Amino acid sequence: MEGSVMEEIDNNRVSMEALVSLCKRRGFVYQSSEVYGGLASAWDYGPLGVELKNRIQRAWWRAMTQLHDNIVGLDAAILMHPRVWEASGHVENFTDPLVDCRKCKSRFRSDQIPEELMAAHRCPECGGELTDPRQFNLMFKTHIGPVESDASTVFLRPETAQGIYVNFKNVVQTSRVKVPFGIAQVGKAFRNEITTKNFIFRTCEFEQMEMQFFIHPSEDEKWFEYWKAERFEFYKRLGILPSRLRFHQHGPDELAHYAKVAFDIQYEFPFGWKELEGIHNRTDYDLRRHMEFSGKDLSYLDDVRGERFTPYVIETSAGLTRTVLTVLADAFEEDEVEGEKRAVLRLHPELAPITVGIFPLVKKDGLAELAREIERPLREEFTTFYDQGGAIGRRYRRQDEVGTPFGVTIDYQTKEDRTVTLRFRDSMEQIRVKIDELADRIRQGVREYRRMGT
Ligand code: GAP
Repeated sequence: MEGSVMEEIDNNRVSMEALVSLCKRRGFVYQSSEVYGGLASAWDYGPLGVELKNRIQRAWWRAMTQLHDNIVGLDAAILMHPRVWEASGHVENFTDPLVDCRKCKSRFRSDQIPEELMAAHRCPECGGELTDPRQFNLMFKTHIGPVESDASTVFLRPETAQGIYVNFKNVVQTSRVKVPFGIAQVGKAFRNEITTKNFIFRTCEFEQMEMQFFIHPSEDEKWFEYWKAERFEFYKRLGILPSRLRFHQHGPDELAHYAKVAFDIQYEFPFGWKELEGIHNRTDYDLRRHMEFSGKDLSYLDDVRGERFTPYVIETSAGLTRTVLTVLADAFEEDEVEGEKRAVLRLHPELAPITVGIFPLVKKDGLAELAREIERPLREEFTTFYDQGGAIGRRYRRQDEVGTPFGVTIDYQTKEDRTVTLRFRDSMEQIRVKIDELADRIRQGVREYRRMGT
């Protein structure tokens, strides 16, 4: 991209504070249990937020299952047999090193404190003395049944992946998949995170979109490269600016206990470059461990190769709620229209919670009724929002702010020649379109959408 265009886009970028405020004000994301003062790090998705989240999920599901003939879906339970988490290594290894400040009582992950402060045992908040680090397991525990004993302990899953591994044999036996193939799943995961900040970036309850791709061990590098490229493209197709995406390879001290090689796709959030998705070569670690702990055979008989083996797994693990933040942070800009500031969400039309705004120029003279008539067939296919209140410019602006890509204005001329004004959010261009051709023109706008500057 040309430097000048890039600079302009980055200058238009809006702060996290403004984004959080927009999310609350327009019903994307609310603080959980707000009437009770809120629950730290838990968030609720409002009317527009749930639409956006569902659309991101649908785009992922389509990209993974519909567009790949060798990937099938699954929806496993959140609660699983507790032995699963011993086998997976999470009971033993899924820990963060925790330190407390004796003075201000703040709590930190010691690996996130600058080295010189850790060496001096000094709190980054107040300079007070820090405790020695102790390992803290991130899994939430609860109990099944009325008696709270060790025997009744279960965990809320910290990743959706294990539900896939323990169903590997079921899927092989009941659907006609053959290695190489994948199993995709979207669902909630829970981690008792020590530090949660930056809005919905890191929360204790979140959603993951994970796919485990089962392969012959000799093909791990080939498939790793394939999925790395594929997943990077996915975010570009969602309309995320490519200049704000990059790979980060995990060094030996960053690798999860199950991973041989790992790359993150990182996004440049307003608070810096952070992980958006992890792509891991998990080898045969998980299947092998479940075989050891369950005593069941989870190997695979490949009749083409004439060989029995334990498949390797290439995992793509994305955060759904984190992608919601990414999409919003990436899309949110301010520009100027006729000397006035305009807040605009440049969402991809397939992700925008509302696709078409319907605006009768005035309520009277039958224009409101005519607008409703034009809206009705569009609703079959698109999410519409009817708004007849206030000046037309203000109505446009309110839809720009929530990312509605198309606006349809019904005026006196509509009554005469059955045409409407179709307005485009990003360019603010307005064209005159016949009512009969409106749906087609919107469809084309969705299909041919390109983010400005890309
Ligand atoms: N199954 C592998 C796995 O869970 P991970 O790197 O720990 O790998 C994958 O997590 C993705 O899940 C992350 O890239 C992030 O998008 C999301 N994620 C992890 N912890 C999260 C949290 N506390 N809040 C929100 N999203 C989180």
